[in-house]
Amino acid sequence: MNRPLSFDVLIVGSGAAGLTLALSLPETMNVAVISKDTMEAGSTRWAQGGVAGVLDENDTVEAHVSDTLNAGAGLCHEPAVQFTVKHSQAAIQWLINQGVPFTREGEEQFHLTREGGHSARRIIHAADATGIAISDTLIQRARERSNLTLFNHFIAIDLITREKLGQEGHGCVGAYFLNKHSKKVEAIQARAVALATGGASKAYLYTSNPDGSSGDGIAMAWRAGCRVANMEFNQFHPTCLYHPMAKSFLITEAVRGEGGHLLLPNGERFMHRFDDRGELAPRDIVARAIDHEMKRLGADCLYLDISHKSEDFLKEHFPTIYERCLSLGIDITKEPIPVVPASHYSCGGVVTDEFGRTDIDHLYAVGETACTGLHGANRLASNSLLECLVYARSAAEHIVSNLDDAPLPDIPEWDSSQVTNSDEDVVLSHNWDELRRFMWDYVGIVRTTKRLLRAKHRVKLLRQEIQEFYSNYEVSSDLLELRNLVDVAEIIIRSALQRKESRGLHYSLDYPKPLPRAFDTLMSAKYLRELGEL
Ligand code: FAD
Ligand code: SIN
Repeated sequence: MNRPLSFDVLIVGSGAAGLTLALSLPETMNVAVISKDTMEAGSTRWAQGGVAGVLDENDTVEAHVSDTLNAGAGLCHEPAVQFTVKHSQAAIQWLINQGVPFTREGEEQFHLTREGGHSARRIIHAADATGIAISDTLIQRARERSNLTLFNHFIAIDLITREKLGQEGHGCVGAYFLNKHSKKVEAIQARAVALATGGASKAYLYTSNPDGSSGDGIAMAWRAGCRVANMEFNQFHPTCLYHPMAKSFLITEAVRGEGGHLLLPNGERFMHRFDDRGELAPRDIVARAIDHEMKRLGADCLYLDISHKSEDFLKEHFPTIYERCLSLGIDITKEPIPVVPASHYSCGGVVTDEFGRTDIDHLYAVGETACTGLHGANRLASNSLLECLVYARSAAEHIVSNLDDAPLPDIPEWDSSQVTNSDEDVVLSHNWDELRRFMWDYVGIVRTTKRLLRAKHRVKLLRQEIQEFYSNYEVSSDLLELRNLVDVAEIIIRSALQRKESRGLHYSLDYPKPLPRAFDTLMSAKYLRELGEL
């Protein structure tokens, strides 16, 4: 038996959550940070708008809390909201101290922008490329730290727990990874494991997310026995660029925050018919309004117009969007931008407490993978990066004071004696397409029980097929991601069927009203197995 690589802390994910956690641990700890692609992979790098926080002297914790609760449509856990917002200033100051080059207004101050659902300017940003600024800075800091070992192109397959090994005691002791360089599966052992693998928006055909958002951490935690909550609340961003040559390009909400107008194809504004806040209503309302108008008019897209602002202003505030659109022949200083909604963010995830602790000892989940209770039924814009920072920092505190020194168990090598090389990879790509298409058609912005039941039937068949593939063939990243996506899609569908009301991002034509009280949708594989459903 080979000795597996061994660390104090194993962090799966190199986005804002994973790197903040890594950099918040003391240099005396031996820490692995793992990405299934390069360190730059993940949604963090794609973030445009910024990070929300109470930074202006005229803003208050109460106002940010109240905006978050309003957007969350009665389902936010108020203690989680209070906890996050109270720590916002310190978390953002930590980012500033790391050297993130946020946009300034004069010598002394940072420019704060505004987005839908916020009653104040409270979003700190680096023009319209905040994610790149954060990712570059944190990766740079991580490379300077000798206690951090950074692994590229290692994809986590499953968690290893003492229970799975048939050992006494409880808790997570590592994970198996496919090393994409050697194509071999390797175990990595650790005293604490953190999942920071991002969200699952790739479950849908149209998404603002990068390809890797396949819900790997959520699926791994689910298979290991953790509860997963509120997965029906998949957030659709109202404004992704609609252009045949542009895949997944977001037009930040800050464009509306800075005065952009949403227009029908005939040039008419329409948002005030849906909400008094107009273009600045929370995302669920704006996305549903766009979906409604597109269906009513049979339109392929609607339009977002900011051309009434000066050219200098647009080039200064939205340089990335200006350049990208111009490269596709759209001059945002002169004409409206064609936009459609797309799957953007997983509000649900692995159930955690304020320290990122999951149901399994020594297993933490932070960032978009987790469900902390902050977002409720609809995330407020720019609260996600904030959540990554706040909870990664509190998870680090918890790990530092609770790391135990019990001997780690032996981990058996990965058994690949029963599998062969697949010669049917085309089946995988068809299954990917099928899954993402029926999720878009049947589990999208507006749902019905009939469509959800159809999706449930389809996902069950797909899961059986993928399971068979997994049992018989050598693992590949496509297979692993698809296996995770199908698990996550099933949780989304089951959660949506369980919710017999409309609330926040979950809108059902069969149950158009909210129930008087809001409840979380909690799912566990163990419970479904006991019911004979899995
Ligand atoms: P990610 O940044 O997604 O990182 C995931 C990491 O996990 C990656 O390193 C990936 O390689 C790794 N990983 C995943 N699976 C595995 C596996 N099986 N094995 C090994 N490694 C794995 N939020 C805001 O607050 N403000 C914004 O302005 C904003 N704009 C956005 C714009 C876009 C286009 C998008 C897509 C999202 C935006 N969001 C924004 C949301 C926000 O960016 C994400 O929620 C946040 O960055 C998630 O960070 P994370 O660290 O949890 O995960
Ligand atoms: C955006 O810039 O519109 C995205 C902000 C977010 O997802 O929080």
